[in-house]
Amino acid sequence: MNYLLLVNKKNPVPEGFYPGLSKADGKYCEEKCAKAYLQMKAAAMRHGLKIKLLSGYRSAAYQKMLFLREVNKLKSIGLSDEEAYFKANESVALPGFSEHNTGLGLDIVREDDDDVYEEFEKTEEFLWLIKNCADFGFILRYPEGKTEITGYIYEPWHFRYVDEYAVKIKNSGKTLEEYLTYRK
Ligand code: DAL
Ligand code: ZN
Repeated sequence: MNYLLLVNKKNPVPEGFYPGLSKADGKYCEEKCAKAYLQMKAAAMRHGLKIKLLSGYRSAAYQKMLFLREVNKLKSIGLSDEEAYFKANESVALPGFSEHNTGLGLDIVREDDDDVYEEFEKTEEFLWLIKNCADFGFILRYPEGKTEITGYIYEPWHFRYVDEYAVKIKNSGKTLEEYLTYRK
């Protein structure tokens, strides 16, 4: 498994890529990622913080449903087909172009949350995660102010498993895109 696999608007999930999956919080994730998440969750719990996985691995069919749901939501508030498509793609990836299709992208929230939201960045849980996630192999994948590089809005809930590279990437202050370019 290449834990530095780059999946974004320009780089789809490679053909024939089928990660080994196992469950964490009742959701499928890539095996090693699931194990690391559970260790991180246990560590957070030791600090009195309860996190949960809202979304891990998604099939391309499920990703398509999420994308179309977002497009329809935007159309219902008056956007044209084209506007809705582009706006939806600022926050939801097309099927086959999502890190969730690899099992390496995780949406993490508080135990009592049932959706993702930007204000999550103000919670104790987020502050703990951002400080400690790299020790468990995770990076925040879509940081604030990096939309032009990542292609997506700020998502304080979306973490990406990169295994042993997490601390280096975190210390570099770079996005995965920038880190991979600079490594070449
Ligand atoms: N929200 C992220 C970009 C996804 O749909 O994969
Ligand atoms: Zn996500």
